[in-house]
Amino acid sequence: MVMGVYSKRVIRYCNYSRNIGSLPEHARDVVTCVAGEEACCDVMRLQVSIRHGMVDEVRFQMYDCGSASCESSLVARWIEGRPLEEALAVRNSAIAHELGLPPVKIHCSRLASEALRAAVADYRSKNAQQCGG
Ligand code: FES
Repeated sequence: MVMGVYSKRVIRYCNYSRNIGSLPEHARDVVTCVAGEEACCDVMRLQVSIRHGMVDEVRFQMYDCGSASCESSLVARWIEGRPLEEALAVRNSAIAHELGLPPVKIHCSRLASEALRAAVADYRSKNAQQCGG
């Protein structure tokens, strides 16, 4: 990561991320989503553990983009322990603003929020099937 381009907050989230990694893939409460960014072809794998309508744990693996890793770390910190609806309210513009991203990296902030929405949609779809809905 190029120092001087990024804010101190970006560097801090990058250096102290506690959400990099994975959750047990086949656990009943874990949903997994892979999202990609067309602008650069980078890919993120996001896993969310959801219990009783709350985000319990978040883990991610980011391939190729340190900026998106920092943003995912921030999103994980924001949403763990929150109700799903609050987690879904996180917007990439808030992520970019919080971290003071340079303009060339604004698109990176979309990955985490889009992966989260896809993971929650997958969770809801699976639950609807289990409930016969
Ligand atoms: Fe591709 Fe950041 S440069 S997601």
